[in-house]
Amino acid sequence: MTKSIGLICGSLRKDSYNRIIAQALIDMDDSIKFRWIELKDLPLFNEDLEVDGDPESVTLFKSSVEEVDGIIIVSPEYNSGIPGVLKNALDWASRPTKSSVLHRKPVGVLGATPGGLGTASSQMQIRQILEAMQVHVLPFQKVLISQVHQKIDSDQKVLTDEKTQRYLQRYLQQFIHWIDHTPVLD
Ligand code: FNR
Repeated sequence: MTKSIGLICGSLRKDSYNRIIAQALIDMDDSIKFRWIELKDLPLFNEDLEVDGDPESVTLFKSSVEEVDGIIIVSPEYNSGIPGVLKNALDWASRPTKSSVLHRKPVGVLGATPGGLGTASSQMQIRQILEAMQVHVLPFQKVLISQVHQKIDSDQKVLTDEKTQRYLQRYLQQFIHWIDHTPVLD
């Protein structure tokens, strides 16, 4: 059966490198139904906003998360950590605890940076947060894309580095396998 994967980019920047990497995943495999899950319209998380039911943008966001078989997060690192917009979205998605739309959802985490450390610190934080929410994060596999500006064609806004393309292809295969074999713990 055709798999559906939601893509979340942790950057709101128009020319985001991380978005280009996420787009490269879309371009890689026609047999997967990809869907962008956008963060830009989400309000800042506030429990008061839940009292009369979620705001419309949050309801839409949560349904998009619910409707896909798995989610791949492609995110930059800010000050050695997770970008605020992404943490905000994960806090919204984590509600209600234990029956949230992300509970036991297969999720993969990737990241790209023009720097040298490939977003390793923020990926560790993202994993820790997802584990607290009992998300099924694809274990072991790390895609740390450093010097990303040298790996894309900035005019065309496409990934051109063949080695990175191969890593991503392999990652995608592993993620599909993870969706099919994610552990059932009940
Ligand atoms: C950065 N950047 C950055 N890069 C990194 O590898 N480690 C870091 O800790 C940080 N910290 C950081 C903080 C802030 C506030 C900004 C704006 C940027 C650089 C970052 O990787 C770069 O701006 C990327 O281009 C952002 O990702 P997108 O928007 O291109 O996807």
